[in-house]
Amino acid sequence: MEPLIKVENIHKIYNPGENEVRALDGIDLEIQRGEFVAIIGHSGSGKSTLMNMLGCLDVPTSGNYFLNGHDVSKLTDNQLSDIRNKEIGFIFQGFNLIANLNAVENVELPLIYRGLGKQKRRKIAVEALKKVGLGARMKHKPSELSGGQQQRVAVARAIAAQPPIVLADEPTGNLDTKSTKEIMDILKGLHKGGRTVIIITHDDDIAQQVKRVVRIIDGRIEEDYLNEEREGA
Ligand SMILES: Nc1ncnc2c1ncn2[C@@H]1O[C@H](COP(=O)(O)OP(=O)(O)O)[C@@H](O)[C@H]1O
Ligand SMILES: [Mg+2]
Repeated sequence: MEPLIKVENIHKIYNPGENEVRALDGIDLEIQRGEFVAIIGHSGSGKSTLMNMLGCLDVPTSGNYFLNGHDVSKLTDNQLSDIRNKEIGFIFQGFNLIANLNAVENVELPLIYRGLGKQKRRKIAVEALKKVGLGARMKHKPSELSGGQQQRVAVARAIAAQPPIVLADEPTGNLDTKSTKEIMDILKGLHKGGRTVIIITHDDDIAQQVKRVVRIIDGRIEEDYLNEEREGA
């Protein structure tokens, strides 16, 4: 079967010319449906740039990206936003919640763009918040929640519409150990439920909990391995 994600020799060059930054410098990567992948690397290695490509938030300077067999460079802006909306759930380090909306309103917001009616949206949002253990915090604004709870709202928002792909960029970067475990448990559950989960991290402890690890150094893939094949190696 066609891989879900197929990246061929992708380059991303910021500020071409004398001060250019080769954020991605020839990346080849295939990810199958249902995989659980950690993309790891030091700060500045190109992880977020890669995630932005995978999530169709940005386009490469050169190279090809096939998502679900579709050449992403051939899609219109409308088709791309449709893919982002329907296929991909995004989770970011900084939560990116809207301060003056409460938890359930934050989760509902992206569902508006999917054309769902008000009652349907509320029902789906409530279910998603219960799934992340926040059934008792529906009406709380982000400022009334801990960092870990805010990130769980963000996870609920990302998964409410049941996208097949979840992309998480340093989702535990701002969290304490306990909240990190909660978020990782949720991501593991999503993987068990059949989602393709890609988590970006600079934390080796997190990478060890994920099936497959892709290590990036200076915009290139340095290693690509399965944790289970490494045990005892
Ligand atoms: N919009 C941008 N303009 C110029 N340089 C950028 C931009 N975004 C990222 N970079 C540079 O690209 C490299 C990779 O960045 P990034 O993908 O954010 O790394 P990571 O997420 O691994 O920390 C870094 O050197 C960074 O400074
Ligand atoms: Mg980053």
